[in-house]
Amino acid sequence: MSHGSADEQWLPVLDVGAYLAGEPGALESLAAELRAACEGVGFYFLENTGALLPEQVVRDMLAASHAVHAAPTAVKEALYLDRADSGYMPIGSNTRWGSDGQPPLPVYEGVNEGYLLWGYGPPWVPEEHQLETLEDNQWPDEAALPGFSAAITTYTRAIDALATAMLPVYAVALEQPADFFDGKFTEPCWCLRLNHYPPNADRVELGIPPHADGDFCTFLLQDDLPGLSVLRSSDNEWVQAPTRGEYSLLVNSGEKLQIYSNGLFPSTMHTASSIDPSRGRFSTPFFWSPNNDLIVEPLPEFVSEERPSQYEASVSGFVYSSGRKEDVDTYGGTGDDRADTFALPQREAGDTEDARANTFALPRRDKTSKL
Ligand SMILES: [Fe+2]
Repeated sequence: MSHGSADEQWLPVLDVGAYLAGEPGALESLAAELRAACEGVGFYFLENTGALLPEQVVRDMLAASHAVHAAPTAVKEALYLDRADSGYMPIGSNTRWGSDGQPPLPVYEGVNEGYLLWGYGPPWVPEEHQLETLEDNQWPDEAALPGFSAAITTYTRAIDALATAMLPVYAVALEQPADFFDGKFTEPCWCLRLNHYPPNADRVELGIPPHADGDFCTFLLQDDLPGLSVLRSSDNEWVQAPTRGEYSLLVNSGEKLQIYSNGLFPSTMHTASSIDPSRGRFSTPFFWSPNNDLIVEPLPEFVSEERPSQYEASVSGFVYSSGRKEDVDTYGGTGDDRADTFALPQREAGDTEDARANTFALPRRDKTSKL
């Protein structure tokens, strides 16, 4: 069942089939569509991806996500986030260091539970403690969740391949040679997050507060239940994003693209919540960034006298901190503070969705060092 609406037209749909098949001219035409999408709302649907992301791989991943969130509490407790923020994150909790380390600094997580996996990250963790490969992450026992590891591994490899295949398209959209990103994603920093927004009867609680992504771009696999809202650039209105069919892949620009394009490809503000009282919503963002030590700065093609550079050069893995550097400095503690990680957020009186949105102004560009 589709929940599409009259607003559906404002989200472009990019068919990647001809490009993945290597048809002549497909790269250039897809890059032109991508540029229009990135200059506009900053979100687009990516379709006809079966050559790299087969339908069965998506179905198996979604089934695995349903399974882990439906698992007994004891199974999930055994998988609580480890020191690299890999594993199960309960409702109302926060990642160990991370969730307020990404611009524009959400102050707490909302009504959403997740399972997180990392590659070359998290970027806010000292390099010697970062997870490099899928295998380094925290995984459930096969007996507790049969097939989970295989399904998630297969999906992660597929979405990573699709993201990599899109790099020449992004390069051309940025007026660069198709191989511009060669060597820049050899150790890509990524995060796969299996989200579950439980049924929401009162529609008061936010699932994830308004924010803009700090990565290069995000590949969001969502099921048929809408829940994502986007701050539409054309009229500055919060608008609910549609879904397309049983599941759909929505891609949005992150901060690195915003910097490369000198602000022309915005990292658009968005928020997500459960809006259905009868069933939960499942979504799986794949956050995708270049090598953590890559210097990112506005490309010369996007800087002119009329449009001066808006951003200083910065290290891709740099995390805009909200004053929690002391937490990072004490990384490597005993782990006994784990309970604190899962303290429920404190809500202020009169803390409405609108008020929260106003607290998430774009980050200042006055820091250039890597934590
Ligand atoms: Fe996001």
